[in-house]
Amino acid sequence: MSKSNILIARAVFPEVIAKLAQHFDVDSNQTDQVWTPAQLIAKLQGKQGVFTTGSERIDGALLAACPALKVCANMAVGYNNFDLEAMTAAGVLATNAPDVLTETTADFGFALLMATARRMAEAEHFLRAGQWSKWSYDMFAGSDIHGSTLGILGMGRIGQGIARRGALGFGMKVIYHNRSRLDAATEAECQARYVSKEELLGSADHLVLVLPYSASSHHAIGAAELAQMKPSATLINIARGGIVDDAALALALRNKTIAAAGLDVFEGEPKVHPDLLGVPNVVLTPHIASATLPTRLAMANLAADNLIGFLTQGKPLTPLNPEVLPKP
Ligand code: GLV
Repeated sequence: MSKSNILIARAVFPEVIAKLAQHFDVDSNQTDQVWTPAQLIAKLQGKQGVFTTGSERIDGALLAACPALKVCANMAVGYNNFDLEAMTAAGVLATNAPDVLTETTADFGFALLMATARRMAEAEHFLRAGQWSKWSYDMFAGSDIHGSTLGILGMGRIGQGIARRGALGFGMKVIYHNRSRLDAATEAECQARYVSKEELLGSADHLVLVLPYSASSHHAIGAAELAQMKPSATLINIARGGIVDDAALALALRNKTIAAAGLDVFEGEPKVHPDLLGVPNVVLTPHIASATLPTRLAMANLAADNLIGFLTQGKPLTPLNPEVLPKP
């Protein structure tokens, strides 16, 4: 049987390319060019599979122009770069990379929370700029983490990891809001209490966003929601750009509607709203929450194993639209 052709859309670990090359004719992109949609379509001609990161948009127009394509394997747990409905309608399998990044991403969420609440980035910039000439009683005074109220919006696997860190490690009171309430055993394990979105916004000292992006979560945190938060509160977004209205957030930070924010994701990234760059009370990182080498390797291997499992045996590991799989 002839080998399937696959495209790896961005640079990735050489050992993952080598593994894929045992099964497929592989076209890779180790120079890591970021292709336009038209360039991606051109590269996908005659390819049955594609290894994507969260950056490549797979939609109806692309699928119509790439009739050979059967599977798109995302090296990310989030998949808002996929138009899943269009993929299902075209009979194209979508897979993502869940679980392997949960604890690493929860670690980062907590790190960003701590850096934000304790004003680490602002303080470091001050020191590097040679402005530290004396001690003062309120210099970079931030807010406490231990014993405070941790709010989590979106209580999937990563949200639960953050809840456990807060409750068990820092004695935080954990409240959460989610589309559906967790079962009692999981709530007990996370020591987390389900509340309405209004109570979450009004009661959290630190609010961490970990919900998936969709049309219904677009601007879930905008001016009205920010106005409901405590003036002393911090907001952390490790979910997706677009969940927060970045312009409204920059204004709230400037006006001290809330105390500070930590953002790993941005609307229209890698561009960052210029107003956010102009306010001091925000910690900004370039979408790196899952970025440890072991975790990124595990994510890449899972995407590769999805391509191998599906294209060689019809058995993907983590399908998003299993309804396109042939019935046994
Ligand atoms: C990262 O943002 C991911 O979705 O894996």
